[in-house]
Amino acid sequence: MRKLLVIGIGAGNPDHMTVQAIDGLNRADVLLIPDKGAKKNDLAELRRHICDRFVTNPNSRRVEFDVPVRAEPAPSYRSTVDDWHEAIAAIYEDLIRDELSQDGCGAFLIWGDPSLYDSALRILERVRMRGNVDFELEVIPGITAVQALAAGHKMALNRIGDAIAITTGRRLTEEGLPDNAGSTVVMLDGKCAFNTLDDKDLVIHWGAYLGTPDEILISGRLGDVGDEIMKTREEARRKKGWIMDTYLLRKPGEPEDVDS
Ligand SMILES: C[S@@+](CC[C@H](N)C(=O)[O-])C[C@H]1O[C@@H](n2cnc3c(N)ncnc32)[C@H](O)[C@@H]1O
Repeated sequence: MRKLLVIGIGAGNPDHMTVQAIDGLNRADVLLIPDKGAKKNDLAELRRHICDRFVTNPNSRRVEFDVPVRAEPAPSYRSTVDDWHEAIAAIYEDLIRDELSQDGCGAFLIWGDPSLYDSALRILERVRMRGNVDFELEVIPGITAVQALAAGHKMALNRIGDAIAITTGRRLTEEGLPDNAGSTVVMLDGKCAFNTLDDKDLVIHWGAYLGTPDEILISGRLGDVGDEIMKTREEARRKKGWIMDTYLLRKPGEPEDVDS
Protein backbone atom coordinates (compact mmCIF):
# COMPACT_ATOMS: atom_id res chain seq x y z
CA MET A 1 0.00 0.00 0.00
CA ARG A 2 1.11 3.60 -0.59
CA LYS A 3 2.47 5.39 2.45
CA LEU A 4 2.19 9.09 3.19
CA LEU A 5 4.36 10.88 5.72
CA VAL A 6 3.00 14.18 6.99
CA ILE A 7 6.11 15.87 8.34
CA GLY A 8 6.23 18.98 10.52
CA ILE A 9 9.25 21.00 9.34
CA GLY A 10 9.21 23.71 12.02
CA ALA A 11 8.19 27.34 11.82
CA GLY A 12 10.81 28.81 9.50
CA ASN A 13 14.20 27.84 10.87
CA PRO A 14 15.73 24.78 9.16
CA ASP A 15 17.34 23.94 12.52
CA HIS A 16 13.83 23.19 13.80
CA MET A 17 13.95 19.93 11.83
CA THR A 18 13.91 16.99 14.24
CA VAL A 19 15.90 13.80 13.72
CA GLN A 20 12.58 12.05 13.16
CA ALA A 21 11.62 14.59 10.47
CA ILE A 22 14.99 14.20 8.69
CA ASP A 23 14.62 10.44 8.82
CA GLY A 24 11.10 10.75 7.36
CA LEU A 25 12.32 12.92 4.49
CA ASN A 26 14.90 10.28 3.63
CA ARG A 27 12.37 7.45 3.67
CA ALA A 28 10.25 9.13 1.03
CA ASP A 29 10.51 8.41 -2.71
CA VAL A 30 8.62 11.59 -3.49
CA LEU A 31 8.81 14.92 -1.64
CA LEU A 32 5.65 16.93 -2.20
CA ILE A 33 6.27 20.69 -2.06
CA PRO A 34 3.34 23.10 -2.22
CA ASP A 35 3.69 26.37 -4.12
CA LYS A 36 1.30 28.94 -2.74
CA GLY A 37 2.04 31.70 -5.25
CA ALA A 38 4.67 34.41 -5.69
CA LYS A 39 3.96 36.17 -2.38
CA LYS A 40 4.70 33.00 -0.45
CA ASN A 41 7.69 31.99 -2.57
CA ASP A 42 9.96 32.32 0.47
CA LEU A 43 7.99 29.54 2.16
CA ALA A 44 8.43 27.17 -0.80
CA GLU A 45 12.09 28.24 -0.87
CA LEU A 46 12.55 27.17 2.75
CA ARG A 47 11.11 23.74 1.94
CA ARG A 48 13.56 23.44 -0.98
CA HIS A 49 16.41 24.50 1.28
CA ILE A 50 15.40 21.87 3.85
CA CYS A 51 15.43 19.20 1.15
CA ASP A 52 18.83 20.40 -0.16
CA ARG A 53 20.29 20.31 3.32
CA PHE A 54 18.81 17.15 4.78
CA VAL A 55 17.88 14.76 1.96
CA THR A 56 20.63 12.25 1.32
CA ASN A 57 18.46 9.61 -0.33
CA PRO A 58 19.63 9.67 -3.98
CA ASN A 59 16.47 7.95 -5.18
CA SER A 60 13.97 10.55 -4.04
CA ARG A 61 12.53 13.21 -6.28
CA ARG A 62 10.68 16.43 -5.63
CA VAL A 63 7.29 17.27 -7.01
CA GLU A 64 6.11 20.84 -6.68
CA PHE A 65 2.40 21.52 -6.98
CA ASP A 66 0.25 24.66 -7.06
CA VAL A 67 -2.17 25.25 -4.24
CA PRO A 68 -5.33 27.14 -5.27
CA VAL A 69 -5.92 30.45 -3.53
CA ARG A 70 -8.85 30.53 -1.12
CA ALA A 71 -11.77 32.74 -2.20
CA GLU A 72 -12.76 35.67 0.00
CA PRO A 73 -14.88 34.29 2.85
CA ALA A 74 -18.33 35.30 1.66
CA PRO A 75 -21.09 34.48 2.33
CA SER A 76 -19.92 31.89 4.84
CA TYR A 77 -16.36 31.27 6.04
CA ARG A 78 -17.03 27.58 6.52
CA SER A 79 -18.50 26.97 3.07
CA THR A 80 -15.63 28.89 1.43
CA VAL A 81 -13.09 26.78 3.29
CA ASP A 82 -15.05 23.65 2.41
CA ASP A 83 -14.91 24.44 -1.34
CA TRP A 84 -11.22 25.26 -1.06
CA HIS A 85 -10.43 22.01 0.75
CA GLU A 86 -12.40 20.03 -1.82
CA ALA A 87 -10.27 21.59 -4.58
CA ILE A 88 -7.05 20.74 -2.72
CA ALA A 89 -8.28 17.20 -2.01
CA ALA A 90 -8.64 16.66 -5.76
CA ILE A 91 -5.03 17.83 -6.24
CA TYR A 92 -3.75 15.56 -3.43
CA GLU A 93 -5.63 12.62 -4.90
CA ASP A 94 -4.03 13.15 -8.32
CA LEU A 95 -0.57 13.49 -6.75
CA ILE A 96 -0.93 10.31 -4.72
CA ARG A 97 -2.27 8.29 -7.64
CA ASP A 98 0.05 9.68 -10.33
CA GLU A 99 3.32 10.28 -8.48
CA LEU A 100 3.47 7.31 -6.09
CA SER A 101 3.85 3.69 -7.10
CA GLN A 102 1.51 1.15 -5.42
CA ASP A 103 3.98 0.65 -2.56
CA GLY A 104 5.67 4.06 -2.82
CA CYS A 105 6.22 6.54 -0.01
CA GLY A 106 5.45 10.26 -0.30
CA ALA A 107 6.12 13.08 2.14
CA PHE A 108 4.17 16.30 2.66
CA LEU A 109 6.33 19.01 4.25
CA ILE A 110 4.05 20.89 6.64
CA TRP A 111 4.89 24.27 8.13
CA GLY A 112 5.26 24.08 11.92
CA ASP A 113 3.32 21.07 13.14
CA PRO A 114 0.55 19.33 11.18
CA SER A 115 -1.81 19.46 14.18
CA LEU A 116 -1.96 23.24 14.53
CA TYR A 117 -4.03 25.39 12.14
CA ASP A 118 -3.09 23.24 9.20
CA SER A 119 -5.59 21.38 7.07
CA ALA A 120 -3.39 18.73 5.45
CA LEU A 121 -4.61 15.96 7.77
CA ARG A 122 -8.27 16.95 7.31
CA ILE A 123 -7.81 17.14 3.53
CA LEU A 124 -6.09 13.74 3.42
CA GLU A 125 -9.06 12.32 5.36
CA ARG A 126 -11.30 13.75 2.62
CA VAL A 127 -9.14 12.05 -0.01
CA ARG A 128 -9.54 8.77 1.84
CA MET A 129 -13.32 9.24 2.06
CA ARG A 130 -13.53 9.84 -1.70
CA GLY A 131 -12.43 6.22 -1.96
CA ASN A 132 -10.35 6.51 -5.14
CA VAL A 133 -6.89 5.95 -3.65
CA ASP A 134 -5.88 4.10 -0.52
CA PHE A 135 -2.89 4.93 1.65
CA GLU A 136 -1.39 4.53 5.08
CA LEU A 137 -0.62 7.68 7.05
CA GLU A 138 2.20 8.56 9.44
CA VAL A 139 2.50 11.93 11.18
CA ILE A 140 5.83 13.36 12.35
CA PRO A 141 5.49 16.31 14.73
CA GLY A 142 7.28 19.62 14.27
CA ILE A 143 8.07 22.79 16.22
CA THR A 144 5.16 25.21 16.05
CA ALA A 145 5.12 28.98 15.78
CA VAL A 146 3.75 28.98 19.34
CA GLN A 147 6.88 27.28 20.64
CA ALA A 148 9.07 29.60 18.55
CA LEU A 149 7.24 32.59 20.09
CA ALA A 150 7.78 31.33 23.64
CA ALA A 151 11.45 30.62 22.92
CA GLY A 152 11.96 34.02 21.27
CA HIS A 153 10.56 35.84 24.30
CA LYS A 154 12.22 33.39 26.71
CA MET A 155 8.87 32.91 28.45
CA ALA A 156 6.62 30.12 29.61
CA LEU A 157 3.29 29.98 27.82
CA ASN A 158 1.28 29.39 30.97
CA ARG A 159 1.25 30.93 34.39
CA ILE A 160 1.23 28.43 37.24
CA GLY A 161 -1.67 26.01 36.86
CA ASP A 162 -3.38 28.29 34.35
CA ALA A 163 -5.10 27.42 31.09
CA ILE A 164 -3.83 28.58 27.69
CA ALA A 165 -6.10 29.26 24.73
CA ILE A 166 -4.96 29.32 21.13
CA THR A 167 -7.21 31.27 18.81
CA THR A 168 -7.29 33.26 15.58
CA GLY A 169 -7.37 36.98 14.84
CA ARG A 170 -10.88 36.56 13.41
CA ARG A 171 -12.21 35.01 16.63
CA LEU A 172 -10.43 37.54 18.82
CA THR A 173 -12.17 40.34 16.92
CA GLU A 174 -15.57 38.64 17.07
CA GLU A 175 -15.51 37.27 20.63
CA GLY A 176 -12.75 39.07 22.54
CA LEU A 177 -10.37 37.18 24.82
CA PRO A 178 -11.53 33.73 25.94
CA ASP A 179 -12.51 34.31 29.58
CA ASN A 180 -11.38 30.93 30.88
CA ALA A 181 -7.71 31.19 29.86
CA GLY A 182 -4.91 32.93 31.70
CA SER A 183 -2.93 33.34 28.49
CA THR A 184 -4.20 33.52 24.92
CA VAL A 185 -2.07 32.89 21.85
CA VAL A 186 -3.34 34.46 18.63
CA MET A 187 -2.43 33.17 15.18
CA LEU A 188 -3.65 33.85 11.65
CA ASP A 189 -4.24 37.51 12.32
CA GLY A 190 -3.85 39.68 9.23
CA LYS A 191 -5.46 42.70 10.84
CA CYS A 192 -3.87 43.30 14.27
CA ALA A 193 -7.01 42.12 16.08
CA PHE A 194 -5.42 43.02 19.43
CA ASN A 195 -6.28 46.58 18.47
CA THR A 196 -9.99 45.84 18.96
CA LEU A 197 -9.55 44.98 22.66
CA ASP A 198 -10.63 47.58 25.22
CA ASP A 199 -8.25 46.49 27.96
CA LYS A 200 -5.05 48.37 27.14
CA ASP A 201 -3.37 47.09 30.32
CA LEU A 202 -3.02 43.61 28.84
CA VAL A 203 0.54 42.47 28.25
CA ILE A 204 1.37 41.45 24.67
CA HIS A 205 4.34 39.35 23.53
CA TRP A 206 4.44 39.66 19.74
CA GLY A 207 6.74 37.96 17.23
CA ALA A 208 7.08 37.96 13.46
CA TYR A 209 9.20 35.70 11.20
CA LEU A 210 9.93 33.71 14.36
CA GLY A 211 13.01 31.52 14.26
CA THR A 212 14.33 33.16 11.09
CA PRO A 213 17.10 35.73 10.65
CA ASP A 214 14.35 38.37 10.19
CA GLU A 215 12.71 37.61 13.53
CA ILE A 216 11.13 40.66 15.21
CA LEU A 217 10.05 40.60 18.86
CA ILE A 218 8.13 43.27 20.75
CA SER A 219 6.72 43.00 24.28
CA GLY A 220 4.95 45.35 26.62
CA ARG A 221 1.69 46.85 27.80
CA LEU A 222 -0.79 46.80 24.92
CA GLY A 223 -1.53 50.52 25.36
CA ASP A 224 2.20 51.30 25.12
CA VAL A 225 3.36 49.01 22.29
CA GLY A 226 0.19 48.34 20.24
CA ASP A 227 0.85 51.17 17.76
CA GLU A 228 4.53 50.26 17.47
CA ILE A 229 3.61 46.68 16.63
CA MET A 230 1.15 47.79 13.95
CA LYS A 231 3.69 50.16 12.40
CA THR A 232 6.53 47.62 12.55
CA ARG A 233 4.29 44.92 11.13
CA GLU A 234 3.14 47.06 8.19
CA GLU A 235 6.67 48.18 7.33
CA ALA A 236 8.01 44.62 7.45
CA ARG A 237 5.11 43.30 5.38
CA ARG A 238 5.64 45.98 2.75
CA LYS A 239 9.40 45.36 2.60
CA LYS A 240 9.24 41.57 2.39
CA GLY A 241 5.90 41.17 0.60
CA TRP A 242 4.46 38.87 3.31
CA ILE A 243 4.41 38.48 7.05
CA MET A 244 3.60 35.78 9.57
CA ASP A 245 3.15 36.82 13.16
CA THR A 246 1.91 35.29 16.39
CA TYR A 247 1.34 36.81 19.79
CA LEU A 248 0.40 36.03 23.35
CA LEU A 249 -1.90 38.18 25.47
CA ARG A 250 -2.39 38.01 29.23
CA LYS A 251 -3.35 40.23 32.11
CA PRO A 252 -0.44 41.85 33.91
CA GLY A 253 0.28 40.29 37.25
CA GLU A 254 2.32 37.73 39.00
CA PRO A 255 5.92 37.10 37.99
CA GLU A 256 5.73 34.62 35.16
CA ASP A 257 6.80 31.54 37.06
CA VAL A 258 6.23 28.14 35.56
CA ASP A 259 5.06 24.81 36.81
CA SER A 260 7.97 22.52 37.42
C1 LIG B 1 -1.66 28.26 8.69
S1 LIG B 1 -0.99 28.61 10.26
C2 LIG B 1 0.21 27.36 10.37
C3 LIG B 1 0.69 27.10 11.77
C4 LIG B 1 1.73 25.98 11.81
N1 LIG B 1 1.15 24.69 11.47
C5 LIG B 1 2.43 25.87 13.16
O1 LIG B 1 2.49 24.75 13.70
O2 LIG B 1 2.94 26.88 13.64
C6 LIG B 1 -0.07 30.05 9.89
C7 LIG B 1 0.08 30.95 11.10
O3 LIG B 1 1.10 30.43 11.92
C8 LIG B 1 1.82 31.47 12.51
N2 LIG B 1 3.22 31.35 12.09
C9 LIG B 1 3.77 30.33 11.39
N3 LIG B 1 5.10 30.48 11.28
C10 LIG B 1 5.40 31.64 11.92
C11 LIG B 1 6.62 32.33 12.16
N4 LIG B 1 7.79 31.87 11.71
N5 LIG B 1 6.56 33.48 12.87
C12 LIG B 1 5.39 33.95 13.35
N6 LIG B 1 4.23 33.34 13.17
C13 LIG B 1 4.21 32.19 12.45
C14 LIG B 1 1.16 32.78 12.06
O4 LIG B 1 0.21 33.15 13.03
C15 LIG B 1 0.50 32.37 10.78
O5 LIG B 1 -0.60 33.19 10.49
